[in-house]
Parts: sequence; structure tokens; C-alpha cells
Amino acid sequence: MHSFKELSQLFSKHFEQNHFPAQPVNLYEPCQYFLQIGGKRIRPVLTLLGNELFAEINQDAYAVATAIELFHNFTLIHDDMMDAASLRRGMQTVHTKYNSNIALLSGDVMLIKAYDYIAKIHPDYLARILTLFNKTAAEVCEGQQMDMDFEQQETVLLEDYIKMIGLKTSVLLAAALQIGAIIGGASEGNCNHLYQFGLNLGIAFQIQDDYLDAFGDPEKFGKEIGGDIKQNKKTFLFLHALDIANADQKKQIEHLISTNPNNKVDQMLSIFEACNVGDWANELKEKYFQAAMKHLDDIAVTSMRKKPLVELANFLIERES
Ligand code: IPE
Ligand code: IPE
Ligand code: MG
Ligand code: MG
Ligand code: MG
Repeated sequence: MHSFKELSQLFSKHFEQNHFPAQPVNLYEPCQYFLQIGGKRIRPVLTLLGNELFAEINQDAYAVATAIELFHNFTLIHDDMMDAASLRRGMQTVHTKYNSNIALLSGDVMLIKAYDYIAKIHPDYLARILTLFNKTAAEVCEGQQMDMDFEQQETVLLEDYIKMIGLKTSVLLAAALQIGAIIGGASEGNCNHLYQFGLNLGIAFQIQDDYLDAFGDPEKFGKEIGGDIKQNKKTFLFLHALDIANADQKKQIEHLISTNPNNKVDQMLSIFEACNVGDWANELKEKYFQAAMKHLDDIAVTSMRKKPLVELANFLIERES
């Protein structure tokens, strides 16, 4: 068995290879660029952990883990265009460094490459894994559309925000784990608990992402602080602030949204702070973290085997990048 750290290193080594041909340079070089600027490689490690929870790691787990990391990077290249983000992993985003057409097409070819890796796995479970992967990919699109729709709405219900982040983020973490478990021959019941563990952990993970977007250390976070505020994202920080703001603060929020002043981020952050959104963020994160842990408890393997997943879960919700 491996620790979460060991699996991260093993996957990184495996993933380092060149996934793309050289030509045309303007299509494939941006792909290489984006894969080389870093990333925590969490989702592929989840696949390896899901596999190793039940059996020795199979080469097919590496193939699907690679596909999942490529899929994730494809979503990021397109997400950065949708979010008008210029910085990722401390470096220029693809559409900023190159242009939007290149970002579109490089993202597309990365997605296609992901399918190439899945196509190579053993036929015994290929159909099952492909079905789960496709369902997940469609859900990510649904979540991303909801996220953009919400930008245009004045407010949204907290439960709709949770639904949206479940779709855009959590389902991929959950599927990454479950695919590993399928390859490891896990029972239906164990697969389901692992999926639910991933869903709840993914929500806590996105809550942390939204928190860091407002209050992170720019050096460590690698993305522009306040990007969500600029884009009028309906994060739980915004929703909570709007919920408990006094009449004066509510007016200020409305004014910031309608006039978009240069110091919008700073002003909104002051309101967030006055409304103590940080404490509330921790409570919400903790709630989903605990729900995740409950499902991990219910998986029928020894607690020793679950240790790396516990390590990873803690890392994910405490992360600063
Ligand atoms: C970023 O995911 C997108 C979200 C769902 C928050 P990560 O934080 O895993 O991004 P990288 O791959 O490590 O850069
Ligand atoms: C991204 O959510 C989710 C997907 C890419 C599918 P965010 O837009 O919050 O992710 P970051 O903050 O840009 O990484
Ligand atoms: Mg984004
Ligand atoms: Mg986004
Ligand atoms: Mg974000």
C-alpha cells in the first residue's frame, strides 16, 4: 500500500510523458504548456487510491487516471475563458498566452486524448467506466452552465449553489474514486459509499476554493484573488454576506454589482469580512467533510487501508493552493 504522497509522486512520474505530437505547433504546444505549469494532480491520485483500497494497483488505473487528469485540464482551459481568468497555477492562462481560438481547440484535443486512454482499458469494465465518465462529463457541463447562469441572477438559494458546485466539481472527484474502485473489483455497496465520500469531499473542496478565491495568499493560490467577485459569482461567501448584511451593506453590494467600480474587489472583501463569512465558510466545509468521513467509515475494508484517503481529505480542505 502507498501513502497519498507516494501515489502523487508515482502518478506525476507516469504523467510526465509527452501526450501529444509536435505538429501543428499552435495546437499542441499550448497543451504541453498547460500540463507543465503544475497542478496538484488530485483526481488521478483519487483513482489510484480508489483502486488500492480494494486491490493492487492495476495498469488500467493509471490509464484512466491519466484520462481524468487530461479531462480536468481541458475543463480548466475552457473554464478560464468562461471566467475571464488570466492567471492559473501562477502562470498565464492558455487564452491569455495564446488566444481564445487556440484555447478552444487545444482544450478539445485534450478531451479527445483523454478518451484515447480510456479506450485502451480491459473490455471487462470498459463500458461501465465509459458510461460513468460520460455521465460525469455531462454533469460538469451542467454545473458550469449553472455557474454562468447564476452570474446573471441577483441571488440564488444556498441549496442551488451546493447543487451547482456538486455538478461542476464534486462529481469528477467522486467518479475518479469510483472508477478506481471498479478496477479494484469493489462491491456495488462499497462503490456507492466511495462515490458519496467523493461527492461530499468535493463540495468541501470547492468551498475551500471559493474561500481562497477571496481570502487566499496570491503567491500560493496561483489564481487572481477576487476573480469570483469580479465575475459576480454567486459563491456561498456572497450569498451569506447578502443574507446577513444590514440595509446599508445590502445597498452597497447592489451598488457594487450595478456600477462595477475599479475597487469592487476590495470593497466587497470588506463587506465579506464585516459579515464574518470566514467563520461560516469553516462551518459549511466541516459539515460536508464530516458527511464524507461518515461514508468512508461505511466502506467495508479495514480502517488501516483507508488511511491514505483520510490524509488526502485533510489535505484537500486545508490546502492553500
Ligand atoms: C481547480 O481544481 C478547479 C476546481 C474545481 C476548484 P484544482 O485546484 O484541483 O486545480 P489544479 O489541477 O491543482 O491546478
Ligand atoms: C471550476 O470552478 C470548475 C471546473 C473547471 C469544471 P472554478 O471556476 O471555481 O475553478 P477555478 O477557481 O477557476 O480553478
Ligand atoms: Mg474559474
Ligand atoms: Mg468557473
Ligand atoms: Mg474558483
